[in-house]
Amino acid sequence: MSYFDSLIREVADFPKPGVVFRDVTPLLADAGGFARCIDALAEPWQGSEVQAVCGIESRGFIFGAALAQKLHAGFVPLRKPGKLPPPLVEVAYQLEYGSDRLQARNDALRPGERTLIVDDVLATGGTLAAAQELVLKLGAELVGASVLIELEALQGRSRWPGATPLHALLRY
Ligand code: PRP
Ligand code: ADE
Repeated sequence: MSYFDSLIREVADFPKPGVVFRDVTPLLADAGGFARCIDALAEPWQGSEVQAVCGIESRGFIFGAALAQKLHAGFVPLRKPGKLPPPLVEVAYQLEYGSDRLQARNDALRPGERTLIVDDVLATGGTLAAAQELVLKLGAELVGASVLIELEALQGRSRWPGATPLHALLRY
């Protein structure tokens, strides 16, 4: 078990029967654990000249904003519908337990801006694929993605472009 494993709570049958939910709130509540987690998420991107970090609502905001600070990059929220005012760009996607849409301000990223996508969990990969589509629609350069947790059995990585780096700190 890694240092971070002990700070992730496993909850059976949440939010639906059959789903094993990985609760990151114990990690967030542990000052040292959260700091080490952000250091570890940032490590592969040092020297990559990341200019913008896109965090996915809502848990991706927490890790994304902290990582943006660490990498001296700006933070851009990719949000669920009804939260951001127009003009917007939008992408629809499927979840492990439902469907949703992701939106961003239509000028949230500059053309060619070197952009990293951050989320807490990679499950079926629909959310990360939608975020990737959104970043490309905005005309930015996608440097890669970082997630705290990859749920390998759900094969979300197969929906991510193989040539673009995707780092996961923990794999279950
Ligand atoms: C969760 C998680 C990821 C997404 C991963 O978000 O935070 O964003 O699911 O699932 P996927 O790989 O199957 O697409 P959720 O929509 O539950 O939102 P939350 O962060 O607001 O809880
Ligand atoms: N998002 C999608 N699937 C999840 C899971 N099993 N645990 C936590 N967050 C998730």
